[in-house]
Amino acid sequence: MASSGVDQGVTAAGVSALLAWYEAMGVDEVVGEVPVDRFAARRAPPPPPPIVAEPIEAPPPPDPVPAPRVRTQSAEPVLATDETAREARAVAAACASLDELRAALERFEGCNLRLTARSLVFAGGMPGSRVMMVGEAPGREEDLQGLPFVGRSGQLLDLMLKAIGLGRSDVYIANVVPWRPPGNRTPTPQETAVCRPFIQRQIELSAPEFLICLGGAAAKELMQTNEGILRLRGQWRSFALGERNIRAMATLHPAYLLRQPLQKRFAWRDFLSLRDALAASGPAN
Ligand code: URA
Repeated sequence: MASSGVDQGVTAAGVSALLAWYEAMGVDEVVGEVPVDRFAARRAPPPPPPIVAEPIEAPPPPDPVPAPRVRTQSAEPVLATDETAREARAVAAACASLDELRAALERFEGCNLRLTARSLVFAGGMPGSRVMMVGEAPGREEDLQGLPFVGRSGQLLDLMLKAIGLGRSDVYIANVVPWRPPGNRTPTPQETAVCRPFIQRQIELSAPEFLICLGGAAAKELMQTNEGILRLRGQWRSFALGERNIRAMATLHPAYLLRQPLQKRFAWRDFLSLRDALAASGPAN
């Protein structure tokens, strides 16, 4: 761990307060004194040098069929190009089930966030639920557990769901970006663009009746709007899901509510609106 500058006479309470301060400042990883190139650590070992032998007869003509492109663990960070976005769309569209989609994301190397994240945070809750909730990207706790919304904002989300009679098994939860951005930074537009086909397909395959965007980032991406979340929240909109349209609403992100508890009253209205919509459309079967 980096030198803290704590002198020998410090008390256990002092150390504990210092650690709490580090955490509050966003220092949530134990690091060493020497910088570590985490990209290098994940690189595949270099291939052995080719063995060059004298040909004993004329080599066969080259194979006219181009070999399929085999992707190995990327040696260099991949930039989100149009080609990567096209590949993401093709890969996602070819998936016929949520299991296939998860497996395809496990293999997909077009987003650099997978290089620094510990886990793919694919989804939580119950696939096929009437309600699907989508956040922005996993945080530290989610990355550690491989599940969405299991940290402090997840605990608040659980309370909000409980307040309208729902639990985790009544909703399906995912994120626009399924890997934790380092240090919980905002995903870049390229990262979001490359992950978008996957969340779109995930929504299609889970086929909810109601889609809830948790926070402005998810709302902006899924509802394709630049409207601010404080104006957008609470309004039911139509979301194209293959052949049909489902109802979608944005609400305030639980992490924002933890910072701005007075805003919980708006989220409460939104959750009541969801409860009424569920009751009005009746049970799904
Ligand atoms: N915030 C999000 O947007 N998603 C999570 O999974 C956790 C926190």
